[in-house]
Amino acid sequence: MKMLSKKVTCNTHGQDSSYFLGWQEYEKNPYDEIKNPNGIIQMGLAENQLSFDLIEEWLAKNPEAASLKRNGESIFRELALFQDYHGIPAFKDGMIQFMEEIRGNRVSLDSSKLVLTAGSTPANETLMFCLTDPGDAFLLPTPYYAGFDRDLKWRTGAEIVPIQCNSSNGFKITQSALEDAYSQASKLNLRVKGVLITNPSNPLGTTMSHQELNLLLSFIASMNIHLISDEIYSGTVFSSPNFISIMEVLNERHDLMDIEEVRNRVHVVYSLSKDLGLPGFRVGAIYSNDEMVVSAATKMSSFGLVSSQTQHLLSEMLSDKKFTSRYIFENQIRLKHRQNMLIRGLYNSGISCLESNAGLFCWVDMRHLLSSNTFEAELELWKKFVYKVGLNISPGSSFHCSEPGWFRLCFANMSEKILDIAMKRIKKFVASTINTTTSTAGNGKNRHHSGKINHTRKLLTKWVFRLSFNDRENGR
Ligand SMILES: Cc1ncc(COP(=O)(O)O)c(C=O)c1O
Repeated sequence: MKMLSKKVTCNTHGQDSSYFLGWQEYEKNPYDEIKNPNGIIQMGLAENQLSFDLIEEWLAKNPEAASLKRNGESIFRELALFQDYHGIPAFKDGMIQFMEEIRGNRVSLDSSKLVLTAGSTPANETLMFCLTDPGDAFLLPTPYYAGFDRDLKWRTGAEIVPIQCNSSNGFKITQSALEDAYSQASKLNLRVKGVLITNPSNPLGTTMSHQELNLLLSFIASMNIHLISDEIYSGTVFSSPNFISIMEVLNERHDLMDIEEVRNRVHVVYSLSKDLGLPGFRVGAIYSNDEMVVSAATKMSSFGLVSSQTQHLLSEMLSDKKFTSRYIFENQIRLKHRQNMLIRGLYNSGISCLESNAGLFCWVDMRHLLSSNTFEAELELWKKFVYKVGLNISPGSSFHCSEPGWFRLCFANMSEKILDIAMKRIKKFVASTINTTTSTAGNGKNRHHSGKINHTRKLLTKWVFRLSFNDRENGR
C-alpha cells in the first residue's frame, strides 16, 4: 500500500477517456510525410496553427519585445525579479482591449475585474474553487469539452450534471433541458451552484444565439445561481451569426430583478490558447463583476501565474492595434477556408457535419457508419479510424454526447496537404465499408446496415450542414 491520497487514486480526472487515449495512440505512431507516411494523422487536437506566420512576422519586426528591451535598454532585471500576483498592468490592459476587439467593441470591460491565470484550465478550476464546495454541482450542456471532468471536478470535489442536448434542434439548450438537469441534480442530493457554457462551443463549433443567452440569464437569475461562460474560442468565429458574449446580453437585461446581484454571478473565462494559437505560452484570464471572486481568484492565481517574460512580450503585441485587427481578420478567413475544405472532403464521402460558424473543428455525423445505434458501436468505429484508417478523431462519447455516432474532427492543427490526405483516407474507408456491406448484402447478414445508411441519410435533419451549390461544384 503506497499511502497516496484519494485524489491521486480516484479517476475523476477523466484522463482515461478515448479523447486522451487517442492522443497517446497518435504519439506512438505519428504521421510524417517522409519518415512515417502510414502513421496516424492527429485530428483530435484543437490547436490553431493557421496564423503563426503573422505572429512570426510581428516578432521579426519587433525584436525588442522578445529580447526583453525597452527603448534600447534591457529590462531583464525588472522582469526577472519577483512579480506579485496582480499581473503587469500594461499586459492586463492589452488583454482587455483584445477581448473588447473580439467582441466587436460592443462591450466595454474593466481591467480591475480581470484575473490572469496560466490558461483557461486553471481559470475554470479557480472559479470552481471560488463558487463551489465539495459535492456542489454545475450544470453543463452536452456535448462538452472532455477536459472539463478534470478541470472542474478532480481537485475541487465539485460535480458536473449534464444538461442533455441533442441533434433534434442542433444541440441547443432549452428551458426543459435546463429544468431536467436541475431536478436530476436535486434527485442526486447535489446543490446546484451554476451553469457553465462554452460559447462558441467545443465540440460543436457553434455560437449561442441571443435567445439562448437570454434563456440562460433568466434561468440563473430565477434559480439564484452562477453562470460561467468559457469564451476561449470567441476570436475564431468566421461566419455569421456573429459572436455574442454573455457580457453583452447581460448589459441589455434591465428587466431582471436584482440585476446587480445577477451581474455579480456572471463570470467569463478566456485564454490566448486558441485565438492566438499559443497554448504553450499558458495565458488565460477570469473576468468577473464580483469583487470577492476577483480578490480570491487573484490570490489563487499564485498557483499558476503567467511569467513576467510572457506578459511583457504579449503586452507589446496586443497593444499593436494594427497587428491585432489584421490578425483577427486574417485568422478568421483562414479558419473559414479550412472548415470548407473539411466539409467538402467529408461531403465527397457522403458524410455531413452540424452547421457551424466557429472553432477549430467540425461536429461530424457518422451515425450511418455505426453497426448499431450504441456507444459500443461508436467506440468500435473510433478504433477502426485510429488503427485502420490512421486518423485520431474524437468520439462523441468522450464529450458526453447523448447520441452515439457523432465525432469531432479538428482542421487547424495540420497543413492543407495533410488535411487532404486525411480526407482521402476517409473516402477510401467509407467506400470499402459500403462495398463490404453491399457485397455481403446478398447473404442477408448486413442488409440492415446498408439499408440503414440510406435510411439515415434521408433522415438527416435540417440542422446538418448542407453545402451551397458553389461549394459542391468546387468540391468535385
Ligand atoms: C472549452 C475549453 N476550455 C478550456 C480549454 C483549456 O485551454 P487552455 O489551454 O487555455 O488551458 C480548452 C482547450 O481545449 C477548451 O476547449
